Amino acid sequence: FEVMWDAAAADKGGWPSFMAKEVSEEPEAVANTLRGRIHDGVVSIPELDGLDDLFRGIDRIIVIACGTAAYAGMVGKYALEQWTRLPVDVELAHEFRYRDPVIGPSTLVVSISQSGETMDTLMAVKFAREAGAKTLSICNTQGATIPRESDAIVYTHAGPEVAVASTKAFVAQITALYLLALHVGRLRGAVSASAVEELARELEAVPSKITWILENDRARIEEFAAWMADTRSVLFLGRHVGYPIALEGALKLKEITYIHAEGFAAGELKHGPIALIEPGQPVFVIVPSPRASALLHAKVVSNIQEIRARGARVIAVAEEGDAAVLPFADEVLRIPLAGPLFEPLLAVVPLHIFAMGLAGAKGLDVDQPRNLAKSVTVE
Ligand code: G6P
Repeated sequence: FEVMWDAAAADKGGWPSFMAKEVSEEPEAVANTLRGRIHDGVVSIPELDGLDDLFRGIDRIIVIACGTAAYAGMVGKYALEQWTRLPVDVELAHEFRYRDPVIGPSTLVVSISQSGETMDTLMAVKFAREAGAKTLSICNTQGATIPRESDAIVYTHAGPEVAVASTKAFVAQITALYLLALHVGRLRGAVSASAVEELARELEAVPSKITWILENDRARIEEFAAWMADTRSVLFLGRHVGYPIALEGALKLKEITYIHAEGFAAGELKHGPIALIEPGQPVFVIVPSPRASALLHAKVVSNIQEIRARGARVIAVAEEGDAAVLPFADEVLRIPLAGPLFEPLLAVVPLHIFAMGLAGAKGLDVDQPRNLAKSVTVE
């Protein structure tokens, strides 16, 4: 009598891969990152106690990160600017350091790193500190090097992420950036208490909306991804906060399926990407909510019409009830209704499922893609 015991499978909690498990944990990653930081509509981040003067004394924020974390930073920029009214730049850590960036004591450099060990991000944080800037680390790994080198830390509580391609850490990073934006914005009087209360409620509603997507769309997206297993190239278009989501959708796909994938700002379509459209070219389009901005929505729908007219196969990621996309989309992946800044936390989920489904259909190892490392600790 022999007991078959596979420790790795046990760690995967019954999922076929760590990545599948980690995508299924996206709701908890957001919920755990919020836990203890919102009380009755008031955002308070205990780790930042005593740092009010630091946040009052800054006049600018620079976000630095690599890979998926940099796309989380790009999403965060919209919220940070809107809620703090401070100018925000997002930079790839390796680009930031090898120039002579204009930074000083009134600059807050926010680094984002799941591992807290990415060498380029670490070196950029050290560089910023030496230049006199204030540094804050958003990190998922307790006691990692980057938070130790920073003046302030906001941990994401996504739990350990094993798959090389980052998924649940991404939604946790955006969540932490939003909490930070609300905290700093409130402190500086840039956002009202009632607005914070409403936005905090939106944040608290995100986990159940992600769960809805996982429960309702997963099987269909996987089936559709399997059907696309022979695709050679996939394009992603997005606008506003949908732009970094297009970049993230493309990154995830290239990382784990080795299919050529590019993300573009939808507004750039006529400045180049449209030349790539030929009959049958699959294009994901992240459609912004028409409720938030009828104008932006109309512009993206018009982009869809333009690529459709040239034979693209359009896969729209659109909110529930958005009927404008129906006549032009070959597939519509639905996300629940949310405020405009909260849509990225939802729209990314079908893209994570899609990349994973396609990698699975190709028989690839989604957890250990070729040539990639979980944490790049060399320059
Ligand atoms: C590697 C990983 C990516 C990750 C990036 C940044 O490239 O494969 O998934 O987004 O590093 O990692 P960090 O730990 O700094 O977030």
